[in-house]
Order: sequence, then C-alpha cells, then structure tokens
Amino acid sequence: MAQLWGGRFTKETDKLVYAFNASISFDQKFYEQDIRGSLAHVAMLGRQGIITEEEMNAITEGLKGILADVKEGRLSITSEYEDIHSFVEAVLTERIGDAGKKLHTGRSRNDQVALDMKLFVRDEIDEIDGLLLELLRRLYTLMEEHTGTVMPGFTHLQKAQPVTLAHHVGAYFEMFRRDRDRMHDIRRRMNTCPLGAGALAGTTYPLDREYTAELLGFDGPTRNSMDSVSDRDYVIELLSALSTIMMHLSRFCEEIIIWNSNEYRFVEIDDAYSTGSSIMPQKKNPDIAELIRGKTGRVYGALTQMLSTMKGLPLAYNKDMQEDKELTFDAIDTVKGCLALFTGMISTMGFRKDVMKRSAAKGFTNATDAADYLVKNGVPFRDAHGIIGRLVLLCIEKDCSLDELPISEYQAICPVFKEDIYEAISMETCVETRNTIGAPGREAMQQVLAMCREYLQNN
Ligand code: ARG
Repeated sequence: MAQLWGGRFTKETDKLVYAFNASISFDQKFYEQDIRGSLAHVAMLGRQGIITEEEMNAITEGLKGILADVKEGRLSITSEYEDIHSFVEAVLTERIGDAGKKLHTGRSRNDQVALDMKLFVRDEIDEIDGLLLELLRRLYTLMEEHTGTVMPGFTHLQKAQPVTLAHHVGAYFEMFRRDRDRMHDIRRRMNTCPLGAGALAGTTYPLDREYTAELLGFDGPTRNSMDSVSDRDYVIELLSALSTIMMHLSRFCEEIIIWNSNEYRFVEIDDAYSTGSSIMPQKKNPDIAELIRGKTGRVYGALTQMLSTMKGLPLAYNKDMQEDKELTFDAIDTVKGCLALFTGMISTMGFRKDVMKRSAAKGFTNATDAADYLVKNGVPFRDAHGIIGRLVLLCIEKDCSLDELPISEYQAICPVFKEDIYEAISMETCVETRNTIGAPGREAMQQVLAMCREYLQNN
C-alpha cells in the first residue's frame, strides 16, 4: 500500500478500506493528462522561484521519462499505489530523489484531479467531434447519391408522402450537426484551468495561475477555488450530449432494422456488419444496429448516475466525485465505438431503390397530391379531401393504387379529373414539385446540399 498521507495516522489502513478507496484501477487511464498537468505546474513553480531551476529541470526530465516509459510499455502502472497521482510522484522520487518530493508544492490532489478530468474530457471531445465529422461526410455522400431515390416518408410508421433517401438522410445530417455544435459549446464553456485552486481555498505560494492555464491551452484560470475543485458540470453536459448522440444513432438504427426486415427489404446490410444464427441457417441479423440501440441505455444510465451523485454534495470536494470517472470513461468509449461502427455500417449498406420506390407508390403516398390536383382545378380543399378519400377506399376494394385506377372511375366520382391526373400524381411529380426550403424536391435539395458542402469544407 503506497499512500501520500501517512503522517497523521497511527494505524495501517484496513485492506478492504484501502481497496475500496483506491482509484488506480481506472484513473490510470489519464496518466498522460496527469503528467502533462504536472509538467505545467513544475514549469510555473520554477519560473516563480518556488523551486530552483535545477529542481525544475530534474522534475521535468523525470516526468518526461515516466511518460515515455509508460507509453512504450517499459513501466507498468501497478495497483500498489492508491491513485495515478501517487504513482507518478512515487516513481519520480524513486528516480530523481528528493527533488521529486517538491512536485506537489502548492497543489492538492483535488485541483490536480479536477485538472486531469478536464484535460481528459477536452481531448475526448475533440476525438468525438472528429468521429461526428466523419459520419457527416458519409451522410453527405449518401445524400448526393440519392437525390432521385424515391421512398415513402412516414408518420406514425404509416406511409405518408413520398420523399427521397437524400431527404431522409438529410434529417440525420441536421441531428449530428447539432451534436457537433454541442461538443463545441461544452468545450468552450469548460475551458478554464482549475490548477492552483489547491484543496479548496487556493494557496499562499505565489503561483502564476494564468501561466499554467496558458501552458495547458486553457482560456484562463477558473475564478473561484471552491467551485474549481467541485465543478463537474462539464461532465454532466458531456454525458447529456453523448446521450443525445446515442439517441440519434439509436433512431437511425431502429429505422435500419425496420428497413432490413423481410417485410421492408429497403436495405441490405453488408455481410461484414451482420451476424448469423446458430440454429436458423437462413438468418442474417442486424446485430450491430441492435447493439448500438441497446447501448444507448448504458449512456443514459451514466448521465442519470452522475446527476444523482452530484445532487447532494456540499462544497467543496467530496470523495463521491471519484465516481465520475468509470462511468464517464465507459460512456465515452461506448459512443466512440458506436460512431465508428455506425459509419462503417452505413458506408457498406446497399439500398434497394426499386423496392423503395414501389413501396412509396403502393401506400397512397400521393393522395395529398391528388387532392391538390383538384384544388388547382377549383375544388375547395375540404371537398377534394373527401373525394380522394372515396377514391382511396375504391382502390383498397380493387387492390390497386391511385395511379392504376382507370380515368372513368375518377370521373364517375368527380368530373373535374382529366387524363393529366396521372402525371400530377406520379411519384416523380410528387417529390419534384415539393421545393419549399427544406423539402425533398431536387431544387430545394440542391440548395441544402450546397449549404452542407460549405459546412463540411469549413470544418
Ligand atoms: N481519486 C480522487 C478522485 O478521483 C482524487 C482526489 C483525491 N482527493 C482527496 N481529497 N482524497 O476524486
């Protein structure tokens, strides 16, 4: 058992207590951020004359050596230390002697861990942002390819009006674009440096907090030392944004599962992204989409857990906050994995354009357009709605679509109908004439594609 705080104690820590309290099994994940923070702290201590230049240089070299050795597998982080902070300090002192004992001058593990967590979260935000950007690029390509791929648009999972695959995918482009915005917002709001807050009340050493903040890429130091060591808002914000990403992925996965079903057959998931059944030889299951949908609950769980952990905490630091790590690490790893797999899955997925178009044509998705045809020929909309309703009923009886119904049947119900009704309700017309901003018509879609292209070019 290696601890930083033995002096006041007359008894050894109980073994179970030690294990219960220790965090090295998971906080070793941010050894790199911990050492990065220490390097900045030490550079500042030296610059301020709080330690000598020789001590600063010795500590700096020592820390760099530890970083390289852990990275390259020459030094392993073992559970005999309480946490990553103790490990680094102990190895440093072992390697460079007494100077190592000065590393922690003017610092507490409370501001140290607050810094490590912020550095870690900030790095991960950048990575997730990159994965979202890759997904957006892929979605954009799909949109470009499928501006003419007609499919049914749904409400209540009932066929509603025809849209295009480009338009449908475009809805997800907007969602993941907002997810990126959220990443940027969180990063901007959290980008202040807690180092120098000490245990809770700052320190009497003449620390230059602005300098360490600058060295570590922060916009400046935090403004209140008690808040600095007890703020985990940014973790909650991140978990909330990650939950929203998962919700978006899960909705898309749900659609892919439906589209991939035997009844729909809109898509064909690539063999590399499907799995079989141990008993039913005919099966090709959309397990990856299902797993992503399933893992959404796991990320929501992390958000709920973190909110619950923080809700009753008095200022300032409390050990409860150590619980932030495992769940945040898990949520981040889950989201990164799901984003990468999802991008791979849709990049290799096949779309059956003919099936999609037939499905749109079969479900009376052009009924609104048929009513609009009458309106354009002078029939009030409410009457037109009733007339088309009767025609749909007739089609259901005859098991045909509106396009297949002979003109005589149309005219028997309403003499306003002429031969040009068929042109007016063709799938192509229904889609192509919807050109209000944000609609699926080609013209409207080209405008949106140009905006998406510009967004991707500038990011
Ligand atoms: N392992 C602790 C955490 O993750 C580090 C801070 C410890 N501070 C303390 N006063 N015990 O929060």
